[in-house]
Amino acid sequence: MSPPGEPGPPPGTVLVSGGASGIGAACVRRLAPAADATVIADTDRARARELAAELAAAGLRTTALPLDVRDPDAVTALYRLLAATHPPVGTLVNCAGISGPRRPVGQYDPEDFDAVVRTNLLGTFHMMRGALPGMRTRGRGVVVNIASVAGARAVRGYGAYVAAKHGVIGLTRTAAREYAEYGVRVVSVSPGHIATPMLEALPPGTTRRLTGETPAGRLGHPGEVAELVAFLSSERARYITGSDHPVDGGWLG
Ligand SMILES: NC(=O)c1ccc[n+]([C@@H]2O[C@H](COP(=O)([O-])OP(=O)(O)OC[C@H]3O[C@@H](n4cnc5c(N)ncnc54)[C@H](O)[C@@H]3O)[C@@H](O)[C@H]2O)c1
Repeated sequence: MSPPGEPGPPPGTVLVSGGASGIGAACVRRLAPAADATVIADTDRARARELAAELAAAGLRTTALPLDVRDPDAVTALYRLLAATHPPVGTLVNCAGISGPRRPVGQYDPEDFDAVVRTNLLGTFHMMRGALPGMRTRGRGVVVNIASVAGARAVRGYGAYVAAKHGVIGLTRTAAREYAEYGVRVVSVSPGHIATPMLEALPPGTTRRLTGETPAGRLGHPGEVAELVAFLSSERARYITGSDHPVDGGWLG
């Protein structure tokens, strides 16, 4: 919850794609107490429902909706449903993402490459495309895209992910320029190595290696990313738009 007296997210609904797990779930937990309503949009229907039920039991209006961000028609249908059932989307947090397999560019399977770009980059675009026109009309709103330190640096074996996250940062910067005059802010957050199911799914030994590479000497917690998202989505960050914000224990250095 925002500390008393500190402005929270813009009025309306907080919509979190990929909100059922890891960083997205931490964002849902952090933002929901100050939101009029919170929507968890995720392919993992069961985990989304579980989290929504937990927050609803605490008296917070929270809804889980199944969504595949890769599918533009499904995203359009989601926004149509929200328009009929929820306060307008004031905050969009795009967390849905996959890392894809680890392979050098010359051996990358085109289908795997396509899936990574569709989820991380096109998915983010589809969600922004649904939210921005309404935010522009209302003259306020915030989009926080979860990029990655891989959006600023090369990571061997993850060409598709690196390309997609560089794309997310470029898309963020462009939309920020296009919508700033309408009172809408668009920023990205670039986590370093955060202890989530995505990281746990990487090949054995990876977590130890990544910890060793991180100046802070440990992995980050999803809540530490959510804290930055809460700040950036609040009025406290009203002059911040178009920028990328690492939360990486010093990894980018
Ligand atoms: N964990 C890290 O170290 C790290 C570092 C940098 C960036 N990130 C980024 O943070 C975001 C969240 O990652 P995480 O670590 O919390 O992973 P996670 O696997 O715990 O959560 C990702 C969520 O996205 C959902 N998702 C995947 N594909 C989807 C789709 N097509 N449509 C809708 N939902 C979908 C999953 O079901 C899951 O709930 C991702 O964009 C990831 O690239 C993570």
